[in-house]
Amino acid sequence: MRTTLLACLIPVAALTGGAAADEARPHLHGDGVVIDGTLFTAEDIDRGASIFMRRCSQCHGLDHTNYKAPWLNGILNRPSASVEDWAYSEPFRAWGGTWTVENLRTWLSKPQDMIPGTEMNFGGFRRSAEDRDSVIAFLVSRSLADEAEEAEETAPADE
Ligand code: HEC
Repeated sequence: MRTTLLACLIPVAALTGGAAADEARPHLHGDGVVIDGTLFTAEDIDRGASIFMRRCSQCHGLDHTNYKAPWLNGILNRPSASVEDWAYSEPFRAWGGTWTVENLRTWLSKPQDMIPGTEMNFGGFRRSAEDRDSVIAFLVSRSLADEAEEAEETAPADE
């Protein structure tokens, strides 16, 4: 039994690089979130939430509803252009990437540079990497919290 279990676990560890790779992935830490080894506190996340309200929420929802743009629930590691009932622009669909933290940084710095012709009418955080990273911390923390909640809901109940 033990041998079978180990045989199953080894390939997974080899793929992910084990605990070190887990640490490198964005993860929740208390009320905060760790991204690339940097802790964004609850205060940073609140700041990101208010920037989101000011600069993104007129188009994007976080309630699985499309407004003037596709909803952003679960955006961390979500394949791009994957909200089924949203009509994405042609250049955007052609990109075909995944929303890693790195791609979010590039996108939000200047969407038109990353995907020329995109319909996201937002100039980008050209002067404030701090504002950009706070919004990302907010979105990533929401994404991870939802994931954790879903995992809990689908986990078999304790006897
Ligand atoms: C004026 C409306 C508008 C604003 C403001 C806006 N966006 Fe967008 N966003 C869009 C549209 C439209 C798209 C789809 C782009 C396309 O199809 O070319 C998009 C796409 C995206 C995507 C990719 C979604 C996917 O399903 O692949 C992300 C991530 C994103 N926006 C984040 C943000 C964030 C964060 C902000 C605030 C800093 C923001 N956007 C501000 C309209 C907007």
